[in-house]
Amino acid sequence: NSRRQLVAGNWKMNGDKALVDKVQKQFAAATLNNMDVVICPPFPYLGLFDGKVKLGSQNISQFESGAHTGEVSVAMLKEFNCQYVIVGHSERRADNNESSSLVALKVEQVLNAYLTPILCVGEPEDVRDDGTLFDYIAAQLDTVLLKVGISQFADIVLAYEPIWAIGTGKTASPAQAQEVHAFIRGHLAKQDNNIAANIVILYGGSVKGNNAQELFSQADVDGGLIGGASLNPEDFLSICQAAN
Ligand code: G3H
Repeated sequence: NSRRQLVAGNWKMNGDKALVDKVQKQFAAATLNNMDVVICPPFPYLGLFDGKVKLGSQNISQFESGAHTGEVSVAMLKEFNCQYVIVGHSERRADNNESSSLVALKVEQVLNAYLTPILCVGEPEDVRDDGTLFDYIAAQLDTVLLKVGISQFADIVLAYEPIWAIGTGKTASPAQAQEVHAFIRGHLAKQDNNIAANIVILYGGSVKGNNAQELFSQADVDGGLIGGASLNPEDFLSICQAAN
């Protein structure tokens, strides 16, 4: 497809300074044209990157500034050249009870600062099994749509991450990923065809060097959000090359 592909590595609560160095060496030598590579390390490491890859954070405060102990603001991220912010990852929804309405506030905060939210949606296994998958995904999107409006989706990246595929080694089949990506695009198209056609939708969930190519070649899959495999710079590079 004609959309610019994007591959983002979400380190989660992993990595160290040595990994920052390794990744930078790996990507300094790589030529990846016509696509974007984003690394989302834990907050303390953001300042150690030297500009070879784009940077994203894994979370953000819904507040602008002030008395919010332990939180990090979008303004701070900007000072460290962070361009993307993962919002609504299923691990945060689960570990920190982040509701879709909190997620919507965070998306709004990121957009107000002119950074790009990577908004994650995705169903647990029982929802897929009981056949309510599309309603579930639609509801996750609708809370944000209601808050920020469809026009703002021109500046949002989406990530479809089925929870049962995250860190399990059990990736969605290319057909399963394509089916949900097409549904998401269709859902947005009900409000704006052009925005739906242009929005970048990443797939996340056990993407590896050996399955990335097939996933990324699906018509509505525009790259990936990579967890475990992003911790190995060689694997991560080969996944990026699959999107190039
Ligand atoms: O944000 C990344 C995803 O949760 C995927 O993680 O590649 O380890 O399955 P994974």
